[in-house]
Amino acid sequence: MKLCVFGAGYVGLVAAACFAESGNSVTAVDVDTRKIEGLKNGIVPIYEPGLKELVLRNQSEGRLCFTTDVPDAVANALICFIAVGTPPGEDGSADLQYVLEVARSIGRSMSGYRIIVDKSTVPVGTADRVRAAVQEELDRRGAAFEFDVVSNPEFLKEGAAIDDFMKPDRVVIGTDNVRTAEIMKELYEPFMRKNNRMIVMDIRSAEMTKYAANAMLATRISFMNQIANLCERMGADVAAVREGIGSDSRIGYDFLFPGPGYGGSCFPKDVKALIRTAEECRYDFLLLKAVEEVNERQKEILAEKLIRILGSPDEEQPLTGRTVACWGLAFKPRTDDMREAPSLTIIERLLAAGATVRAHDPEALKEAKKLFGERIEYSSNQYDILAGADALVIITDWNEYRTPDFDRIKATLKQPLVVDGRNLYKPDRMKSAGFRYIPLGRSGNGIAGDGR
Ligand code: UDX
Repeated sequence: MKLCVFGAGYVGLVAAACFAESGNSVTAVDVDTRKIEGLKNGIVPIYEPGLKELVLRNQSEGRLCFTTDVPDAVANALICFIAVGTPPGEDGSADLQYVLEVARSIGRSMSGYRIIVDKSTVPVGTADRVRAAVQEELDRRGAAFEFDVVSNPEFLKEGAAIDDFMKPDRVVIGTDNVRTAEIMKELYEPFMRKNNRMIVMDIRSAEMTKYAANAMLATRISFMNQIANLCERMGADVAAVREGIGSDSRIGYDFLFPGPGYGGSCFPKDVKALIRTAEECRYDFLLLKAVEEVNERQKEILAEKLIRILGSPDEEQPLTGRTVACWGLAFKPRTDDMREAPSLTIIERLLAAGATVRAHDPEALKEAKKLFGERIEYSSNQYDILAGADALVIITDWNEYRTPDFDRIKATLKQPLVVDGRNLYKPDRMKSAGFRYIPLGRSGNGIAGDGR
């Protein structure tokens, strides 16, 4: 099939490359000339395992091309995907200006029947607005082409995006047209290797499914973070509790890991947007408001523990003269993405408390430098930043940190203090190795806070 994908960002690029890989002819369109020129020359602007190889292969085999020319891209494409950003506006609602601008540009350029697919995460009701925007342009041109608008939300996780796209748990297709549903099913057929969960539903339910999925996962994380904080105060072990509850098939084990709060480009934005959507319907989504508040507080917890352990209580800047080494800056492993990363809050808090901060991350140092500049020190060697530091704090669960050289850590730190936001190590082993080890919610070893 001939496709075009608007937006050569995260979702768009992955979708374009994967659709091309399954034999379709795909044109990816973006307004960013530099990005498109780079892609034409094989420069992939984001880090995602496997993406670069996929882009280069399909490009050289002629199935994937890049352009800034909308009419050219729309000319031959039966299906036009909209995968541009929906950044949060000031009130938390998703800003649809880019989505609607793409819809208008499709309306200005189409020359026959088209299926227009919303792949961006968009609030319920957006398909209607996309349809109206396209129709308005057609009317302006006096053109009477038919088109359908489909909601086809994307569920990919950063770091595992190619795999998620190629072997999805499910594909959700929101449409009110049987013929369109058949075409969409045919497009996705090659990806249905894991199971055959292609779920066709009405458009509004498909739009809601995306938000409900992310809000549910965010809720699990905030719930587990509060259970962990309570375990800490009660001498229970959250890892055991997770095993205990996860074995209930109604609950399952996934997304029950406590941590320094969820971050990234989706959960924070989508939780906010759903709260806002509810408000617009005069419905108070109390539960999600709490999920968000718990998450904001959780991002403070690692810095607070460090301040309680290392700080001089009477000082305005209690960590003056202290150095903290941070392992992990990206919001999660296998990405360089620092959007809404808990490390941002933690490091700002440590700096405000007067600490010297040093950081290591396998991929995100370049991004971090844009955000922190000279205010913190960086190293691409995870051990170098430990020299003379008062503590090591683990923020992101990169594999590189799972089985480190503990002797080297101990010999290099000024004192053997490890505050672990991801529960990577066994508390007993750390203790017998001579560390003061502070995990999250485990065995009463954590330093409980005051009322959080
Ligand atoms: C998420 C959804 O998983 C994906 O389906 C959707 O399409 C986009 O949003 P992503 O943001 O890439 O994907 O990352 P994910 O792996 O879901 O992690 C999100 C955040 O939750 C990270 O900060 C992670 O550290 C945190 N998390 C995840 C936890 O704190 N505990 C967990 O048990 C799982």
